[in-house]
Amino acid sequence: MTEEDFIARAYPKTIESDAVSCIAPSNIALVKYWGKYGEQLPENASVSFTLSNCHTKTTLSFQKKESEGFEFSVFLDDLPAPAFEPKILKFFERIEQYVPFLNKFSFTIHTSNSFPHSSGIASSASGMGALALCLVRMEQQMDPQMDHAYATRKASFLARLGSGSASRSIEGPLVVWGKHAKIEGSSNLFGVPYPYTIHPVFQNFQDTILLVDKGEKQVSSTLGHDLMHGHPFARQRFEKANANLSALIPVLETGDLSEFIQIVESEALSLHAMMMTSRPYFILMKPNTLEIINRIWAFRKRSGTSVCFTLDAGANVHVLYPIAEKEKIQTFIEDELTVYCKDGAFIIDQTGSGALPL
Ligand code: PMV
Repeated sequence: MTEEDFIARAYPKTIESDAVSCIAPSNIALVKYWGKYGEQLPENASVSFTLSNCHTKTTLSFQKKESEGFEFSVFLDDLPAPAFEPKILKFFERIEQYVPFLNKFSFTIHTSNSFPHSSGIASSASGMGALALCLVRMEQQMDPQMDHAYATRKASFLARLGSGSASRSIEGPLVVWGKHAKIEGSSNLFGVPYPYTIHPVFQNFQDTILLVDKGEKQVSSTLGHDLMHGHPFARQRFEKANANLSALIPVLETGDLSEFIQIVESEALSLHAMMMTSRPYFILMKPNTLEIINRIWAFRKRSGTSVCFTLDAGANVHVLYPIAEKEKIQTFIEDELTVYCKDGAFIIDQTGSGALPL
């Protein structure tokens, strides 16, 4: 599919006013996306587990209007949230050609996250995922014959234009975004469910998110992606990420957890290595991030379990493990890791199946 396939044709029905609500989860990348070009196109393919407990619920109310231009207001937890408006305006500008009704309606966007706003968990994937799906639901009211598979794809396509990783929050439990020679159907334009065999050990895979630093992101992802332009190791990084995704294919099929751990942890550290070697450079891990990583390594060695970690562009640690080890690992986390979390805070999550209309 190409961009043109997502340009809306004439709608058979007209609508005046209504509201649609959707819920979309966050996701955690196993092979990371870091670096983009053109209009939100990824420099390498990435794959993520879709989560379930960390999610955003959004209600989009709309009312036909006569005036020109975009008109919308945003509420977070029922309170006006004008700080979100520039990001949404930019999103609307980017997607207008694909959803040309945007300037014909006045919108009210009510949104709320299941995780605390100041938790350091990025809400852009779940937030843009939920808003994109709401817009496609609205479009379906004008085009009731729209095919379900196309609608899902379009939601991911639009979400990508809001935040790249949001393209991976529409479906689950494992989603690939970015064209990859070994992944059939993969595309730079939208996320697709991982199309090959997934060993049962990866079913309901657990992700306990340790909140090491609850503050605002130190480096916005927009700036972070920009730092990959002219980065001395950019080319090698993009190649390595694609090679890591190739290497994951047999691992996901056979359930080879020890190789899974090597790939996933190396991906997390490579992402941070990119930030440490860009100009300007950043260290987004905190001393407690390293304490946690060392404790995970020591515990894995002495317990023989398959616990591992991954990181986003921040200090929080995602602790990943198979559901069969849940009891053991949760005891370990509570006994040894929560002391390194801000106010002892963590979120228990696991893989999920993606965004849904409410
Ligand atoms: O979607 P963005 O632009 O916020 O980028 C997110 C990038 C990482 O979370 C660091 C990695 C990833 O693939 O999710």
